[in-house]
Amino acid sequence: MPRRIIPVADVSAVPLISGPAHIPSGTLHDSLARPLRDLRISITDRCNFRCVYCMPRAVFDKNYPFLPHSALLSFEEIERLARAFVSHGVEKIRLTGGEPLLRKNLEFLVERLARLTTPTGRPLDLTLTTNGSLLARKARSLKDAGLTRITVSLDALDDPLFRQMNDADFALDDVLTGIAAAQSAGLGPLKVNMVVKRGTNDSQILPMARYFRDSPVVLRFIEYMDVGSSNGWNMTEVLPSAEVLAQIAAHYPLVPLEAHSLAETAQRWGYADGAGEIGVISSVTRAFCGGCTRARLSTEGKLYLCLFASSGHDLRALVRRRDSDAELTSAIAQIWQARADQYSQLRGSPSGHAVDGAPPGERRIEMSYIGG
Ligand code: GTP
Ligand code: 5AD
Ligand code: SF4
Ligand code: SF4
Repeated sequence: MPRRIIPVADVSAVPLISGPAHIPSGTLHDSLARPLRDLRISITDRCNFRCVYCMPRAVFDKNYPFLPHSALLSFEEIERLARAFVSHGVEKIRLTGGEPLLRKNLEFLVERLARLTTPTGRPLDLTLTTNGSLLARKARSLKDAGLTRITVSLDALDDPLFRQMNDADFALDDVLTGIAAAQSAGLGPLKVNMVVKRGTNDSQILPMARYFRDSPVVLRFIEYMDVGSSNGWNMTEVLPSAEVLAQIAAHYPLVPLEAHSLAETAQRWGYADGAGEIGVISSVTRAFCGGCTRARLSTEGKLYLCLFASSGHDLRALVRRRDSDAELTSAIAQIWQARADQYSQLRGSPSGHAVDGAPPGERRIEMSYIGG
């Protein structure tokens, strides 16, 4: 029998500290001098896939306590919170899930967020991570609503293996059609994320590289992570990025490319023959917490400071008890200034698991709850 996981709605919130008002300045640093630049907003904890590494069917079955609609932040509430984060320096907003395209009228939310600008008047980088299954239908309306670009998760180019990995019998062609629709709608540069699980889909590394070479799509290989509490993660199933690169380079020589920014998750590589770019995201073998500028807002409005955290700060309570904008921005500032999370960096160190915000015995949040 799989172990039941604690319903996320029961995870107690970290109490908010009260203190002097903090005037948003567009730059806010945490206790490790990392600025707040990215906000990832999960807009549903539901998904139509059951990827084995994220929502194993044995746990996420018909009895799983997904959040009720009343618990979800409304679009108005999300916009209000996003505005407060932007006033503190957030420049990039990523909508995630679960599967974000399952949220009804998502385009209305995109419209609202697309109108926000940074304190210096620049538009935001507004993007979204999707499994692509509904993208063919939605790409045009999302672009029209103001979405800048999009990232599609795709783990295999072999249809039976793809179905086995999504464990919901979704066909590969649906996703490939979705990717094509996003490209023709102008949602670029499009990124494709492939989680590599040794022994499951490592046979797909070369076919994926070959398929997306010579296209503007940036393919990124992600090391399988020990995120959440339900995927039965095991280090033997992690294929280090160095091996991914070696496999590809044996066929197509690669050259390193410069990072766009210190906060980048992926290391960039280019094909030596000019056929485009790939990336590797090595959160297990080469942690990137030092430049982590990412805050995560859950579907029910809890602010998490790390993907591996077990508890969040209840911003929905502030919004619903009608706190002023000044109180809201102050609360966010105090939370971010106290942040010390660096789970991946400390994973494996003697004190590792004690310093990630998830004390031994406490369950970490699931990726489907907080987004990738
Ligand atoms: P881009 O601006 O499009 O490059 O976005 P990104 O680099 O933030 O990448 P994306 O949102 O596509 O994330 C890709 C994957 O990287 C996620 O699905 C996670 O597996 C991993 N990832 C992203 N952010 C973090 C993070 O803060 N910590 C860890 N450990 N992994 C992360
Ligand atoms: N390890 C790495 N990435 C994961 N994702 C979900 N679960 C994991 C995991 N265990 C990421 C994938 C997927 C996105 C939605 O979340 O990148 O594309
Ligand atoms: Fe798969 Fe993404 Fe759904 Fe998780 S949220 S089950 S990774 S499609
Ligand atoms: Fe950021 Fe936590 Fe990921 Fe490190 S492990 S990069 S602190 S989210």
